[in-house]
Amino acid sequence: MLTNEPNSLHKLEPCAEEMQLLIQQASNLVINYLSNITNEPASNISNLDSHLTEIRKPISEEGLNLDRVLPLIDKHVVRCAVNTAGGTYQAYIPGGGIFASAVGEFIAAATNRYIGVWSIAPAAVEVETSVIRWLCSSVGYPESARGILTSGGSLANFSAIVTARCALLPENFLSGIIYASDQVHASVQKAAMLAGFPSANIRVIETDKQFRINPSLLLTAIEKDKQADLTPFLIVGSVAKENNMWLHIDAAYGGFFVLTERGRKLFKGIDKADSITLDPHKGLFLPYGTGCLLVRNGELLKQAHQVGASYLQDLDLTEDRMNFNDYSPELTRSFRGLRVWLPLKLYGVASFRQYLDEKLDLALWACEELKKIPGIEIIAEPQLSVVAFRCKPKTGNLTTANKKLLELIIATQKTFISSTTINGEVILRIAILCFRTHLAEVQATIDAIKSNIEIED
Ligand SMILES: Cc1ncc(COP(=O)(O)O)c(C=O)c1O
Repeated sequence: MLTNEPNSLHKLEPCAEEMQLLIQQASNLVINYLSNITNEPASNISNLDSHLTEIRKPISEEGLNLDRVLPLIDKHVVRCAVNTAGGTYQAYIPGGGIFASAVGEFIAAATNRYIGVWSIAPAAVEVETSVIRWLCSSVGYPESARGILTSGGSLANFSAIVTARCALLPENFLSGIIYASDQVHASVQKAAMLAGFPSANIRVIETDKQFRINPSLLLTAIEKDKQADLTPFLIVGSVAKENNMWLHIDAAYGGFFVLTERGRKLFKGIDKADSITLDPHKGLFLPYGTGCLLVRNGELLKQAHQVGASYLQDLDLTEDRMNFNDYSPELTRSFRGLRVWLPLKLYGVASFRQYLDEKLDLALWACEELKKIPGIEIIAEPQLSVVAFRCKPKTGNLTTANKKLLELIIATQKTFISSTTINGEVILRIAILCFRTHLAEVQATIDAIKSNIEIED
């Protein structure tokens, strides 16, 4: 029965006091957890079955009170995980999660502004546009550049490949060839696959001792493909532009170091790339779900993604307005701009620069400390904030020894690092990018290595 009187239909529309209570209880959970995060174990996935049993309990018709649900989230979800928000997380590529960004996200989600089309929320679109403008100027891009905030680096790489494909290849694009180094992130291969390229269209170019693409091998591969009547059109990497091809730089991990003086020198020439992937949920310390693609000639990004629709006819779609849906695979999505804009406004760029500089220093420090440990061999000195190393036991199998060492390090629960395989060899790596990683946390990693490597000797 329709009525204006409060009834069960109003459950989804809490009053001011109810909203206060919800926020207060949820923020108590978050603040309790975060204010003690340095003492949390680096990983805590024991008793998994009991956690999963709680989570799998069926969703009821009537619902539960928040004071029943929040402890479930706290105990069985938040605390049952590798602590990826903690400074002890030095594996893969660490993410961020700065609190002010979460607050921005909360405001964005609760007020639910629609930013796919300029005229629906012009000021919110301006917030996101100004973030993109700042990102473009950080890499030295001209006014004509445009960009989109994506869910992460993978989707940014996907849109980059689609944009390059549309700019340089005909509709039937299967003669197009993509070149990337043997160290390229797997998301690039996945993006190429999703963009319609079979794996036979991807050339994997060998790298040198510092894991950088070998330019002469690249040129040879391009020439060979041209002679075979194929169409080299895209290089993913960090070499100079060749043959009018599209140069995409996947700077998802390292891109934000461009804000530092040392990074700026290393990234010299980045502004010549046709497109750049950055991942604010890595190097800008924001919560997961915040990636970015920048395209030097913004018009090409638009041409690759714009599809009109008759039901949008009432909207002001004036060409010079920023209608993000014309530049992105997404139509409706969250207002990602606010979670980037708010912390930048609050803390200023200098704070981010200081944190990034600290990460560069910590990686150098970790490398020097590793060199002092008997039985450790450095595989790659940090170019930014990752150190690759392995143990070399006097006897026994290298792979077994390094896998065992990694297991023992993780079992300490004081740190969490990861491994990779290069040329068939298992290599351990310390990746320092979490904003909560300071000297004490890297010292803990070094201590864990020291105290467990002795067993290997
Ligand atoms: C160099 C590089 N590119 C792309 C990605 C994929 O980014 P995401 O996980 O945000 O999709 C990563 C993730 O670690 C990365 O390090």
